[in-house]
Amino acid sequence: MRDEDLVRLALEAKERAYAPYSGIRVGAALLTRGGEVFTGVNVENASYGLTLCAERVAAVKAVSEGRKDWVTLAVAWNREEFCRPCGACRQVLFEFAPALRVLMANARGEYEEEVLAALLPSAFTK
Ligand code: THU
Repeated sequence: MRDEDLVRLALEAKERAYAPYSGIRVGAALLTRGGEVFTGVNVENASYGLTLCAERVAAVKAVSEGRKDWVTLAVAWNREEFCRPCGACRQVLFEFAPALRVLMANARGEYEEEVLAALLPSAFTK
């Protein structure tokens, strides 16, 4: 799958975000080596701290389906800046794929690419 298509899937996913509190809609699309894509959205809660980020939703969907071999993650939102994964998501993604390519997109589908290990230097690992 082309990077642009994965970004498009993340942009489409963000429309399914549940974000009545922040209004920030985030979508993620995680591509496995086998060519499957797992999407995720942020899921907020009235108890704010229980909010789930889009990237971690995509990650746990993939792991729970037995897919831990990831090559590329696209993350997008409804803003002009590039969408950068939070620290918690970086750590959870790093557990399975330090070499993951991360495509950080804005609402227009423009994006910047970085390798996960560079986004989380000196990571805590097992
Ligand atoms: N959010 C994500 O989905 N991913 C991130 O990496 C950072 C933040 C969501 C959580 C919350 O619903 C909204 O963005 C504002 O923080």
